[in-house]
Amino acid sequence: MTSVLELKDACISRNKKIIWSNSSLSIDENTTTAIIGMNGSGKTTLLEAMLNILHLDKGNIELLGKHPKYTKHLIGYVPQKYQLAATNTIRGYDALALGLVGTKLGIRLSNKKIKKNIISLANNLQISDLLDKRLTNMSGGQLQKIAVAQAIINQPKILILDEPLANLDMQAIVDFLNLLKQLQKKSISIFIVTHDLNPIIDLIDGAIYLLDGHAHYLPVAKLKDAKLLSNLYSTKVEVIHSKTGAFIRSVE
Ligand SMILES: Nc1ncnc2c1ncn2[C@@H]1O[C@H](COP(=O)(O)OP(=O)(O)OP(=O)(O)O)[C@@H](O)[C@H]1O
Ligand SMILES: [Mg+2]
Repeated sequence: MTSVLELKDACISRNKKIIWSNSSLSIDENTTTAIIGMNGSGKTTLLEAMLNILHLDKGNIELLGKHPKYTKHLIGYVPQKYQLAATNTIRGYDALALGLVGTKLGIRLSNKKIKKNIISLANNLQISDLLDKRLTNMSGGQLQKIAVAQAIINQPKILILDEPLANLDMQAIVDFLNLLKQLQKKSISIFIVTHDLNPIIDLIDGAIYLLDGHAHYLPVAKLKDAKLLSNLYSTKVEVIHSKTGAFIRSVE
């Protein structure tokens, strides 16, 4: 099986400060992985290495067996702070059109085909009402939906979402989880940075956790461990198992 992400003795720094080091892990293609760790532990830094925005100081990183400089066109990315160079005239439709043609330089799509793709995805995600709306007039949750739609419209092999659940109300979280389940039926590898594992814990295959200056990987069964999670979050937590799934809660 191909690895979607492989780190070998990886070490990365920012402004000469090591963020994480000596990290080796391998994650199978077409799986869903959470990325967890305290504020400042280097989650976004890892994503930026995957996106070839930042480079390792030591070791190797490969996505689908290739250096990240060769895989940018295979990735859909929703940053932690989604802002489209928003002049106030950009509408939902324009953002999705950008997702379609922005990364396919050299490949021409007819306007008719672009429109068909956008309308079909918007229907599927139930965001048709946002196509004519200006980004500057959207709520945080609506913007988030446009950001995710823009990231998946090109059918990426890898989808990277940095804190997709932050600022979403309960209905928007349910919508997001349904979308995630839909995507998981396709051949796509998904990475989700999150501070709250609870909404996705029964949907992920495993997690990369950043602890003590290293990136580690654990399959989900081993992740549901109170001691490990207490250590990770620096606060005592327990893992409750119920018929509807696992739930992590603080007991301090
Ligand atoms: N642009 C930057 N320039 C220099 N240092 C940075 C930059 N962005 C982040 N850092 C530093 O790098 C470290 C890792 O940051 P990173 O953004 O990867 O953390 P994170 O795990 O994503 O945190 P959060 O949960 O707050 O999003 C932090 O110490 C942070 O201060
Ligand atoms: Mg971050």
